[in-house]
Order: sequence, then C-alpha cells, then structure tokens
Amino acid sequence: MPVQPDAVVDQLARIVGAEQVLSAPDLMAAFVVDWTGRYRGDALAVVRPGCVAEVSAVLAMCSASGIPVVPQGGNTGLVGGSVPLANSGAVVLSLTRMNSMGPVDPVTGHVSVGAGATLAALQVHAHDAGWSFGVDLAGRDSATIGGMVATNAGGIHVVGNGMMRKQVLGVEAVLASGEVIRSMSGLAKNNTGYDLTQLLCGSEGTLGVITEVSLQLIRPRSTELIVAGCDSVEQALSIASRFIGKLAAAEIMDRAGLDAVSRVTGIVIPFPTAFHILVEVNGDIAPGELEDLEHVTLAMDSSERTKYWALRERITEAMAATSVGVSHKLDISVPLSDLDAVYREITTYLDQPGVRDVVLFGHLMDGNFHVFFTTDPDDTSLDAAVLELVAAHGGSISAEHGVGHMKADHLHLSRSAPEIAAMRGIKAALDPKGILNPGVLFTR
Ligand code: FAD
Ligand code: LAC
Ligand code: ZN
Repeated sequence: MPVQPDAVVDQLARIVGAEQVLSAPDLMAAFVVDWTGRYRGDALAVVRPGCVAEVSAVLAMCSASGIPVVPQGGNTGLVGGSVPLANSGAVVLSLTRMNSMGPVDPVTGHVSVGAGATLAALQVHAHDAGWSFGVDLAGRDSATIGGMVATNAGGIHVVGNGMMRKQVLGVEAVLASGEVIRSMSGLAKNNTGYDLTQLLCGSEGTLGVITEVSLQLIRPRSTELIVAGCDSVEQALSIASRFIGKLAAAEIMDRAGLDAVSRVTGIVIPFPTAFHILVEVNGDIAPGELEDLEHVTLAMDSSERTKYWALRERITEAMAATSVGVSHKLDISVPLSDLDAVYREITTYLDQPGVRDVVLFGHLMDGNFHVFFTTDPDDTSLDAAVLELVAAHGGSISAEHGVGHMKADHLHLSRSAPEIAAMRGIKAALDPKGILNPGVLFTR
C-alpha cells in the first residue's frame, strides 16, 4: 500500500512530539537543499528527535513502512549526501537537537559528544578544559560531530593529526532496524571481531544513524605560521617538505581563490605569485630555514594568524558569494609525486568555453586539491572528465568530502568491482531494505 504522507507525519509526531515534525514546504525548505545549492529535493517530513530512543523508534517505524531516511547534521556537506532528491518520499532525520557535551576526562582527554553538537561548540568545550580537538575545518559553526564522523571529515590538520576517524574512540548508532549499537566505553584496545565503530566512519549515513561519539582530545601545541608565495605546485611542495615530521598544516591557494577572498574581505594578498602556501609548524622555526625564499613571512601575532588563515579558509564561502551558475566542487587526491602534473592537466582541461570561476586550492601535503568551477547549465561530463584524469594518476575521486549523490556514478574510478561488491554486501547486511540514504554512495 502506498505511504500516506499525513499518516507518516502523525506517526512521527507520536514519537517525537508534533512540534518536532516539520511538513510544511516553507519549513522544510532549508533541509532539502544542500550548502552548494546544486542538490535540491523534497521530503515527506523533517523529524527532529531529541534522544536515542526517539531515533530508534523513528527508524523502526520507517523500516516497517519502507520509508527512506536521510540523516542530516549541519547540512554543510559538499556532495549532496545530506539532502533527499526530487520525489524521494523520504524523511529527513535532523540530529541537531542531540547536542549534548559531556565532561572532558582530565587524565585521558576523552569526551562524549552528541552527534548534533557543532565542531565550534566542541572546540570551545575542549579549550575551556585545557585541551584541543584534532580536526578543524571552515564549516565549524554548522558542521556537526555526527556529520563529521559520517563523512570522515578531513580539514586543515590532517597532516598532523589524521582525519576524523583517528579521533574517534567509540560511537552510539542506530541501525536501520531501530536497534542500537554502542562502543562508548573508551577502550584503547578491543580486538573482538569487526570494528563497527570505524566502519561507521565515512559511511555517509548509509549504514546507521550516529547519535553520540566518544572522542580523544589532544594537548594544545604552540605553532608558527609561515606564509610563502610560490610560482608552482612543485615549489610549494619543496618548501613544505622541509618541515615534514613537524607539520601541523600545509595548505595551498591559487591566485583566483585568493582574489575572491580579497574581494569579499578586503584582505590584501601578500605576494604577487601564482600560489600562496600556509605552513603551520609545531614548535619553533630555526633561523635560516626560510632565508633562501624570496616571498615569505611569518604571522607575528594572533591577529595576523587570523588574517592569513582567512585567506585560505574563506575561499569556499567567497566563491559561493562571487560566482553565479551551477557550482561544481570536486575534492580529489593524488600521490604527491603527481600533484604538480595533475594540477596542470586539470587547469588545462578546464580552460574551455562555458567553464568559469576555476579555483584550485586545498590540503597540499595530503595531495588533496579542491577543484571548484561554475557552469551554466549543470554539465556532469566535466566532473567525469576531471575524475577520470585523477583516476589515471592513481588518485581518489573523494579525498575528504565523500561520494554522496554527486560521485555515486563514478565510484568505480576509485574502487574495484570486488570492493564495490563487498561494500554492497555490508550495506545489505546492515540495511536490508535499503532505507538509509538511498542513492548516496551507490547508484540504485
Ligand atoms: P551533513 O552535511 O548534514 O551530512 C553529511 C553526510 O553525513 C550526509 O551523507 C548525511 O546523511 C550524513 N550524516 C550527517 N549526520 C549524520 C549522523 N548523525 N549519522 C549518520 N549520518 C550522518 N569537509 C572536509 O572534510 N574538510 C574540510 O576542510 C571542509 N571544509 C568545509 C568548509 C566549508 C565552508 C563547508 C561549507 C564545508 C566544508 N567541508 C569540509 C564539508 C563538510 O563540512 C563536512 O563534510 C562535514 O563533515 C559535514 O558535517 P555536517 O554535520 O554538516 O553533515
Ligand atoms: C576546504 C573544504 C572545501 O578545505 O574542504 O576548505
Ligand atoms: Zn578541504
């Protein structure tokens, strides 16, 4: 029997309370379009549970009725995975009310955080307790811890601290059936079979709904921030490589990205070069380590650090503010030995009529370029060509943002047929009715 939207809304309201179920199109509008505006869909309802028992009851109900569920955190994802597509018949399950923040253990630096807590809130909480969190990214005011686990987010400190999965000690999650699994006891070692906690990291809402996360915090470190101007990717790599072993961050920006930030913020671009890099180094920089460089400076105080970091962090926001059309945001990584060649090949390929606002920037020492451009209308063949070029260099079509709806058609470029079959097997085992985020990661 077809699903009756009103009956679904009634059932959801019985679980979470009527005020936590949105079904009017204007109230749902912000939940069914992604941050980039490229992915726009519809939903039967948006449900906002306040505890794990409510998440469990929502999933049990949707599972019984075969209703698709799209988990959503801060909706800052850049691959369309956090929103349903058109005619989805889906329920958006928003975790933002589940934003609890447990005490920081003063000895271990462990903390338990609700999936809907924002990264910025965690950073303040950790700082107040004398600790720091190892992952940082520009979407921090909205991006949630659950979303960051679900995407295995990267950001600006991967070169020093690893990705999100490395900070995760345990999770509480609700499976499609409504059953709850927990690994929140903070064990450093636990070799009892498959690691379901790590399986959920990077699962993009397709295997379970994360409701709470146990995280390892780190001790704050003092760092120096170098800003250098370079003429090529090769030169950028050679400067950053001097500091391997003590890198806290190593980022690269091209001229077009900096121009956009400068237009929006008024910040003056330091050097006349094609690229700038930000290299953050743990500890001090020895005298003489930079003296052969023509275009280089150090951030002298916290206001200079903030200014230089803004040049890097505000590129995504500045491109959104200054470009018009369909926004393509690719997120690739290649072996560092191929990074210079891949940069040249991508920019040469995108230098064609109909392609505007080409910007490449990203996490230099992770071999991870963000490739942004706009077109009118949407032309996915351009995305495909760039991703094929990356795959030909042994690269990944998703360094950190995930596959989402955007790259599901291209998964075979980074994963072999046996790998995809194994992943589909895992999906079928955990979500036999395929209700969790259909169309994300795998084509249907
Ligand atoms: P959402 O966008 O809401 O969801 C993302 C995915 O996770 C979806 O598939 C969704 O279904 C799933 N999901 C969300 N919550 C849950 C949950 N509780 N349980 C199960 N599944 C869930 N990403 C990086 O990796 N590095 C960066 O440097 C970076 N910088 C960014 C800068 C800006 C300005 C912006 C807008 C985005 C940036 N991102 C970056 C992308 C984005 O912030 C990350 O992917 C982030 O992890 C998404 O968190 P979210 O809470 O917004 O998740
Ligand atoms: C960044 C996002 C786009 O690194 O991942 O700014
Ligand atoms: Zn990034």
